[in-house]
Amino acid sequence: MNKPDTINKISNNTSNFDVDKVRADFPVLQQQLRGKPLVYLDNAATAQKPESVIDTLATYYRKTNANIHRGVHSLSEKATAEYESARTKVQAFINADSTQEIVFVRGATEAINLVAQSFGRTTLTTGDEIIITELEHHSNIVPWQILSEQTGAILKYIPINDAGELILEKFAGLLNENTRIVAVGHISNALGTINPLKTIIDKAHAVGAKVVIDGAQAVPHTKVDVKALNCDFYAFSGHKLFGPTGIGVLYGKQALLEAMPPYQGGGDMIQRVTMANSIYNDLPYKFEAGTPHIAGVIGLGAAIDYVNHLGLVAAAQYEIELLNYANAQASQVPGLTLVGTAKNKTSILSFTLDKIHPHDIGTILDGEGIAIRAGHHCAMPVMERFNIPATARASFAFYNTCDEVDALIAAIKKCQRIFN
Ligand code: ALA
Repeated sequence: MNKPDTINKISNNTSNFDVDKVRADFPVLQQQLRGKPLVYLDNAATAQKPESVIDTLATYYRKTNANIHRGVHSLSEKATAEYESARTKVQAFINADSTQEIVFVRGATEAINLVAQSFGRTTLTTGDEIIITELEHHSNIVPWQILSEQTGAILKYIPINDAGELILEKFAGLLNENTRIVAVGHISNALGTINPLKTIIDKAHAVGAKVVIDGAQAVPHTKVDVKALNCDFYAFSGHKLFGPTGIGVLYGKQALLEAMPPYQGGGDMIQRVTMANSIYNDLPYKFEAGTPHIAGVIGLGAAIDYVNHLGLVAAAQYEIELLNYANAQASQVPGLTLVGTAKNKTSILSFTLDKIHPHDIGTILDGEGIAIRAGHHCAMPVMERFNIPATARASFAFYNTCDEVDALIAAIKKCQRIFN
């Protein structure tokens, strides 16, 4: 990161990235809240949706709505084609080998639960080991705790240092021939740390473990290539990628998915059902029981089209500059302590402010039209590690600006005037 006192404001439209133009694509950003322009800095919780995604959803329901894989009528064929076309977009987006490796689920949480209950429950036994990290969101902790209760597997945690970075030397000490699963977040939702995935994956594979990546916070901020990573599973949600809520993706290597039993039973996941038993469908349908979130999948496809058109690499570079600016401004506020200062981080400014409770900070900021998240961020072990109950968290997307950072800092100073 640049030194705090060397940071200049980034112009909205002279770099490679025209933020004013991008902002015009997001209707929600055009409004005022509490008489002030909305400053939306809660993107790690959920991102806003561009007009193209909103239009795609409305058009689907206006003109196409039908069930998929079932009907012989034209609407059903059209809905099926749009649904499967979105699967192809996801495959290309993360560079998977095949559409059979792309399973649609409700979100990253369901994807991880699917791996734990289908892969984990059938392959782990007493004495096997699962390694996760102190940085994880609850969605990448609790499914493994449940699995460990069910199987007798031992759950271990890679610790983090005071900057919020994984201590890789300790990881090496946790790995052994009993390690079956290593599950790690790509980017921390609470601190913004970007984890060294390639190193972790290679070390885990060296002892024969499978690696599950929680990519919920990564897909909006970085280009993901599952083949280059060589991860075994990768999970993400649509709503953080500027798509609809209630839809997500599990990527899994084909051979692993082939060998895994279904997670849920129901329609569409079978080839044949008799009263005695069932023959399951091929991948990926074996894991998509029941009528899926058809509109959500098609909307996710539109979100991927949007970010592809925008260019994730330029957007990510802009976000790094924005975070550097925010970091520099925040560092100059006496009484503000940044929580999470990893060398390699993105898009998250988590902080405490004097003795002011983060919920009070969130409420004062809301009065200024600024939306942040305050609390434990569904990552209570991270709070425990830093010995704090909560932080205030501003989380950025490519449509945020330096002027919005200035508004945040001004509102933070207002909090201090009110409470101190
Ligand atoms: N996981 C989301 C967050 O970090 C909800 O806020």
